[in-house]
Amino acid sequence: MKVTPKAALAAVVAWSASGGAAGFDEVAAKAMYRSPANNCSKCHALDKEKIAPSYHQIAEKYKGDPEAERKLIEHINSGRLVKFPDGHEEEHRVVKETDPEQQRNLIQWILAQ
Ligand code: HEC
Repeated sequence: MKVTPKAALAAVVAWSASGGAAGFDEVAAKAMYRSPANNCSKCHALDKEKIAPSYHQIAEKYKGDPEAERKLIEHINSGRLVKFPDGHEEEHRVVKETDPEQQRNLIQWILAQ
């Protein structure tokens, strides 16, 4: 059977969606990251520090921490006070999607930046 790039991609997406080892759905994660309801991208860039740490910095910070996924899922649901570079504090955005699988997917993607 000839494997077209499209078929290969579909297979990878299906595999990630089924929760394959270290597999996350990047398209779904980015959609959550950019959605107006979440607006994560307003404060977080992937590899440059904005008014919040970049996802790369966050991934580095949690590298090797077996609890990283659990801690960060808690973070995006807690609405805890976070400090901004100008010193003011406000409650962190709570992620709109309540589905644990969608949240886990988003965090796995962040930790891979
Ligand atoms: C209004 C700005 C703002 C928005 C919007 C925002 N964040 Fe943050 N976020 C911050 C700041 C500031 C920090 C740094 C908190 C700290 O280190 O105390 C942070 C930290 C984080 C961390 C790291 C927490 C840790 O323990 O190191 C994660 C993960 C994160 N945000 C994910 C998200 C996601 C996902 C969204 C969208 C649902 C989002 N953020 C939206 C400002 C924002």
